[in-house]
Amino acid sequence: MHWVLIGPPGAGKGTQAALLAGRLGIPHISPGDTFRRASRAGTPLGHLAGSFMERGALVPDEVTNALIRERLAEADCRVGFILDGFPRNLAQAGALQTMLEELGLPFAGAISIEVPEEELVRRSVGRRVCRQCGAIYHLETHPPAVSGVCDVCGGEVALRADDREDVAKTRLEVYGKATAVLLDYYRRRGELRTVDGNRPVEQVLAELTLLMRNP
Ligand code: AP5
Repeated sequence: MHWVLIGPPGAGKGTQAALLAGRLGIPHISPGDTFRRASRAGTPLGHLAGSFMERGALVPDEVTNALIRERLAEADCRVGFILDGFPRNLAQAGALQTMLEELGLPFAGAISIEVPEEELVRRSVGRRVCRQCGAIYHLETHPPAVSGVCDVCGGEVALRADDREDVAKTRLEVYGKATAVLLDYYRRRGELRTVDGNRPVEQVLAELTLLMRNP
Protein backbone atom coordinates (compact mmCIF):
# COMPACT_ATOMS: atom_id res chain seq x y z
CA MET A 1 0.00 0.00 0.00
CA HIS A 2 2.59 2.56 -1.11
CA TRP A 3 0.60 5.34 -2.76
CA VAL A 4 1.05 8.88 -4.05
CA LEU A 5 -1.86 11.35 -4.03
CA ILE A 6 -1.81 14.02 -6.73
CA GLY A 7 -4.17 16.96 -7.08
CA PRO A 8 -4.24 20.75 -7.29
CA PRO A 9 -4.38 22.92 -4.14
CA GLY A 10 -7.77 22.37 -2.52
CA ALA A 11 -8.48 19.00 -4.17
CA GLY A 12 -8.76 17.36 -0.75
CA LYS A 13 -5.45 15.47 -0.60
CA GLY A 14 -4.73 16.42 3.01
CA THR A 15 -8.30 15.72 4.15
CA GLN A 16 -8.37 12.30 2.50
CA ALA A 17 -4.80 11.31 3.39
CA ALA A 18 -5.40 11.94 7.11
CA LEU A 19 -8.59 9.83 7.08
CA LEU A 20 -7.04 7.06 4.96
CA ALA A 21 -3.98 6.85 7.19
CA GLY A 22 -6.21 6.24 10.22
CA ARG A 23 -8.35 3.74 8.39
CA LEU A 24 -5.56 1.78 6.69
CA GLY A 25 -2.95 2.05 9.45
CA ILE A 26 -0.23 3.50 7.23
CA PRO A 27 1.64 6.80 7.61
CA HIS A 28 0.46 10.04 6.00
CA ILE A 29 3.50 11.91 4.72
CA SER A 30 2.99 15.53 3.74
CA PRO A 31 5.98 17.80 3.07
CA GLY A 32 3.61 20.80 3.29
CA ASP A 33 2.62 19.85 6.87
CA THR A 34 6.26 19.20 7.81
CA PHE A 35 7.35 22.58 6.44
CA ARG A 36 4.50 24.38 8.25
CA ARG A 37 5.42 22.67 11.55
CA ALA A 38 9.09 23.60 11.08
CA SER A 39 8.11 27.16 10.26
CA ARG A 40 6.00 27.45 13.44
CA ALA A 41 8.89 26.02 15.46
CA GLY A 42 11.27 28.56 13.91
CA THR A 43 13.86 25.95 12.87
CA PRO A 44 16.36 26.61 10.03
CA LEU A 45 14.29 24.30 7.77
CA GLY A 46 11.18 26.27 8.70
CA HIS A 47 12.80 29.61 7.83
CA LEU A 48 14.02 28.28 4.50
CA ALA A 49 10.75 26.55 3.55
CA GLY A 50 8.66 29.50 4.76
CA SER A 51 10.43 31.87 2.38
CA PHE A 52 9.22 29.76 -0.56
CA MET A 53 5.78 28.82 0.78
CA GLU A 54 4.79 32.41 1.48
CA ARG A 55 5.19 33.11 -2.25
CA GLY A 56 3.43 29.93 -3.34
CA ALA A 57 6.68 28.60 -4.82
CA LEU A 58 8.06 25.08 -4.46
CA VAL A 59 10.73 24.52 -1.83
CA PRO A 60 13.98 23.47 -3.62
CA ASP A 61 14.07 19.82 -4.66
CA GLU A 62 17.27 18.96 -2.76
CA VAL A 63 15.66 20.06 0.53
CA THR A 64 12.35 18.28 -0.09
CA ASN A 65 13.92 15.10 -1.48
CA ALA A 66 16.25 14.78 1.53
CA LEU A 67 13.29 15.20 3.89
CA ILE A 68 11.25 12.52 2.12
CA ARG A 69 14.15 10.11 1.85
CA GLU A 70 14.75 10.29 5.58
CA ARG A 71 11.05 9.74 6.31
CA LEU A 72 10.66 6.79 3.91
CA ALA A 73 13.59 5.03 5.60
CA GLU A 74 11.61 4.82 8.86
CA ALA A 75 10.25 1.39 9.83
CA ASP A 76 6.54 2.27 9.60
CA CYS A 77 6.91 2.87 5.82
CA ARG A 78 7.62 -0.81 5.19
CA VAL A 79 3.88 -1.60 5.34
CA GLY A 80 2.84 1.38 3.25
CA PHE A 81 2.50 5.16 3.01
CA ILE A 82 0.35 7.88 1.56
CA LEU A 83 2.48 10.60 0.04
CA ASP A 84 0.43 13.81 -0.01
CA GLY A 85 2.08 16.52 -2.11
CA PHE A 86 5.19 14.59 -3.16
CA PRO A 87 6.33 14.29 -5.90
CA ARG A 88 5.42 17.68 -7.34
CA ASN A 89 7.56 17.74 -10.47
CA LEU A 90 9.36 15.30 -12.76
CA ALA A 91 12.68 15.60 -10.92
CA GLN A 92 10.99 14.64 -7.64
CA ALA A 93 9.21 11.73 -9.37
CA GLY A 94 12.58 10.42 -10.56
CA ALA A 95 14.04 10.90 -7.09
CA LEU A 96 11.14 8.98 -5.55
CA GLN A 97 11.71 6.06 -7.89
CA THR A 98 15.39 5.93 -6.92
CA MET A 99 14.52 6.13 -3.19
CA LEU A 100 12.06 3.24 -3.47
CA GLU A 101 14.62 1.11 -5.29
CA GLU A 102 17.33 1.90 -2.75
CA LEU A 103 15.04 1.23 0.21
CA GLY A 104 13.56 -1.90 -1.37
CA LEU A 105 10.00 -0.55 -1.15
CA PRO A 106 7.27 -1.36 -3.68
CA PHE A 107 5.11 1.26 -5.44
CA ALA A 108 1.35 0.79 -5.78
CA GLY A 109 0.75 3.84 -7.96
CA ALA A 110 -0.43 7.46 -8.10
CA ILE A 111 -4.02 8.56 -7.58
CA SER A 112 -5.20 11.82 -9.09
CA ILE A 113 -8.04 13.55 -7.22
CA GLU A 114 -9.97 15.56 -9.80
CA VAL A 115 -11.98 18.66 -8.88
CA PRO A 116 -13.19 21.51 -11.15
CA GLU A 117 -11.43 24.85 -10.77
CA GLU A 118 -14.39 26.84 -9.39
CA GLU A 119 -14.80 24.28 -6.59
CA LEU A 120 -11.05 24.46 -5.82
CA VAL A 121 -11.39 28.21 -5.32
CA ARG A 122 -14.42 27.77 -3.05
CA ARG A 123 -12.54 25.23 -0.94
CA SER A 124 -9.36 27.30 -0.61
CA VAL A 125 -11.20 30.50 0.27
CA GLY A 126 -13.18 28.77 3.05
CA ARG A 127 -10.40 26.57 4.36
CA ARG A 128 -9.16 27.10 7.91
CA VAL A 129 -6.47 25.02 9.60
CA CYS A 130 -5.39 24.42 13.18
CA ARG A 131 -2.12 26.25 13.79
CA GLN A 132 -1.15 23.61 16.36
CA CYS A 133 -2.03 20.17 14.94
CA GLY A 134 -2.82 21.00 11.29
CA ALA A 135 -6.43 19.66 11.36
CA ILE A 136 -8.32 20.91 8.29
CA TYR A 137 -11.70 22.70 8.41
CA HIS A 138 -13.97 24.60 6.03
CA LEU A 139 -16.07 27.57 7.14
CA GLU A 140 -19.20 26.30 5.35
CA THR A 141 -18.91 22.55 4.98
CA HIS A 142 -16.78 21.50 7.96
CA PRO A 143 -16.50 24.22 10.63
CA PRO A 144 -15.07 23.49 14.09
CA ALA A 145 -17.72 23.06 16.83
CA VAL A 146 -16.53 26.28 18.51
CA SER A 147 -15.58 29.00 16.06
CA GLY A 148 -11.79 29.46 15.83
CA VAL A 149 -11.02 26.52 18.18
CA CYS A 150 -9.73 23.13 16.98
CA ASP A 151 -12.01 20.16 17.80
CA VAL A 152 -8.97 17.87 18.04
CA CYS A 153 -6.46 19.77 20.20
CA GLY A 154 -8.07 23.09 21.21
CA GLY A 155 -5.52 25.04 19.14
CA GLU A 156 -6.28 28.21 17.17
CA VAL A 157 -8.05 27.63 13.84
CA ALA A 158 -7.07 30.26 11.28
CA LEU A 159 -6.53 31.06 7.61
CA ARG A 160 -3.45 29.36 6.17
CA ALA A 161 -0.91 32.03 5.17
CA ASP A 162 -0.65 30.69 1.61
CA ASP A 163 -4.44 30.72 1.14
CA ARG A 164 -4.30 34.51 0.63
CA GLU A 165 -5.89 35.12 -2.77
CA ASP A 166 -2.71 36.16 -4.64
CA VAL A 167 -0.61 33.30 -3.21
CA ALA A 168 -3.37 30.72 -3.79
CA LYS A 169 -3.46 31.80 -7.45
CA THR A 170 0.32 31.34 -7.77
CA ARG A 171 0.07 27.86 -6.20
CA LEU A 172 -2.53 26.88 -8.77
CA GLU A 173 -0.24 28.14 -11.55
CA VAL A 174 2.71 26.21 -10.13
CA TYR A 175 0.53 23.08 -10.12
CA GLY A 176 -0.36 23.63 -13.80
CA LYS A 177 3.27 24.24 -14.85
CA ALA A 178 5.23 21.76 -12.72
CA THR A 179 2.93 19.12 -11.26
CA ALA A 180 0.23 18.37 -13.84
CA VAL A 181 2.87 16.74 -16.11
CA LEU A 182 3.08 13.97 -13.52
CA LEU A 183 -0.34 12.76 -14.61
CA ASP A 184 1.09 11.87 -18.03
CA TYR A 185 4.25 10.51 -16.46
CA TYR A 186 2.35 8.03 -14.30
CA ARG A 187 -0.25 7.31 -17.01
CA ARG A 188 2.46 6.29 -19.47
CA ARG A 189 3.90 3.94 -16.87
CA GLY A 190 0.47 2.38 -16.26
CA GLU A 191 0.58 3.62 -12.66
CA LEU A 192 -2.18 6.26 -12.64
CA ARG A 193 -5.70 6.00 -11.20
CA THR A 194 -8.19 8.84 -11.09
CA VAL A 195 -10.92 9.58 -8.58
CA ASP A 196 -13.73 12.14 -8.81
CA GLY A 197 -13.00 14.45 -5.87
CA ASN A 198 -16.05 16.64 -6.46
CA ARG A 199 -18.25 14.64 -4.11
CA PRO A 200 -18.80 14.58 -0.34
CA VAL A 201 -15.72 13.65 1.69
CA GLU A 202 -17.18 10.27 2.78
CA GLN A 203 -17.89 9.20 -0.82
CA VAL A 204 -14.40 10.08 -2.01
CA LEU A 205 -12.96 8.32 1.04
CA ALA A 206 -14.96 5.15 0.33
CA GLU A 207 -13.67 4.97 -3.26
CA LEU A 208 -10.07 5.68 -2.26
CA THR A 209 -10.21 3.05 0.49
CA LEU A 210 -11.51 0.42 -1.92
CA LEU A 211 -8.92 1.31 -4.53
CA MET A 212 -6.01 1.26 -2.09
CA ARG A 213 -7.10 -2.06 -0.58
CA ASN A 214 -7.64 -3.67 -4.01
CA PRO A 215 -5.18 -2.06 -6.42
P1 AP5 B 1 0.58 21.60 0.60
O1 AP5 B 1 0.32 21.77 2.02
O2 AP5 B 1 0.84 20.24 0.06
O3 AP5 B 1 -0.57 22.31 -0.21
P2 AP5 B 1 -1.28 21.98 -1.63
O4 AP5 B 1 -0.71 20.85 -2.40
O5 AP5 B 1 -1.30 23.29 -2.31
O6 AP5 B 1 -2.60 21.40 -1.23
P3 AP5 B 1 -3.60 22.03 -0.25
O7 AP5 B 1 -3.14 21.71 1.16
O8 AP5 B 1 -3.85 23.46 -0.59
O9 AP5 B 1 -4.94 21.25 -0.62
P4 AP5 B 1 -5.40 19.79 -0.36
O10 AP5 B 1 -5.54 19.09 -1.65
O11 AP5 B 1 -4.60 19.11 0.71
O12 AP5 B 1 -6.89 20.09 0.17
P5 AP5 B 1 -7.48 20.03 1.67
O13 AP5 B 1 -7.65 18.62 2.09
O14 AP5 B 1 -6.74 20.95 2.57
O15 AP5 B 1 1.84 22.49 0.14
C1 AP5 B 1 1.98 23.82 0.61
C2 AP5 B 1 3.31 24.38 0.15
O16 AP5 B 1 4.40 23.58 0.69
C3 AP5 B 1 3.58 24.40 -1.36
O17 AP5 B 1 2.99 25.52 -1.98
C4 AP5 B 1 5.11 24.43 -1.40
O18 AP5 B 1 5.60 25.72 -1.10
C5 AP5 B 1 5.47 23.51 -0.24
N1 AP5 B 1 5.58 22.11 -0.71
C6 AP5 B 1 4.75 21.10 -0.39
N2 AP5 B 1 5.13 19.95 -1.01
C7 AP5 B 1 6.25 20.28 -1.74
C8 AP5 B 1 7.09 19.55 -2.62
N3 AP5 B 1 6.89 18.24 -2.88
N4 AP5 B 1 8.11 20.20 -3.21
C9 AP5 B 1 8.35 21.50 -2.97
N5 AP5 B 1 7.57 22.27 -2.16
C10 AP5 B 1 6.53 21.66 -1.54
O19 AP5 B 1 -8.96 20.60 1.38
C11 AP5 B 1 -9.17 21.95 1.02
C12 AP5 B 1 -10.50 22.46 1.64
O20 AP5 B 1 -11.58 21.77 1.03
C13 AP5 B 1 -10.63 22.23 3.14
O21 AP5 B 1 -11.30 23.32 3.71
C14 AP5 B 1 -11.48 20.96 3.25
O22 AP5 B 1 -12.27 20.96 4.44
C15 AP5 B 1 -12.35 21.07 1.99
N6 AP5 B 1 -12.69 19.78 1.40
C16 AP5 B 1 -11.86 18.72 1.22
N7 AP5 B 1 -12.49 17.71 0.59
C17 AP5 B 1 -13.75 18.16 0.34
C18 AP5 B 1 -14.90 17.57 -0.29
N8 AP5 B 1 -14.88 16.33 -0.81
N9 AP5 B 1 -16.04 18.32 -0.39
C19 AP5 B 1 -16.09 19.58 0.12
N10 AP5 B 1 -15.04 20.19 0.75
C20 AP5 B 1 -13.88 19.48 0.86
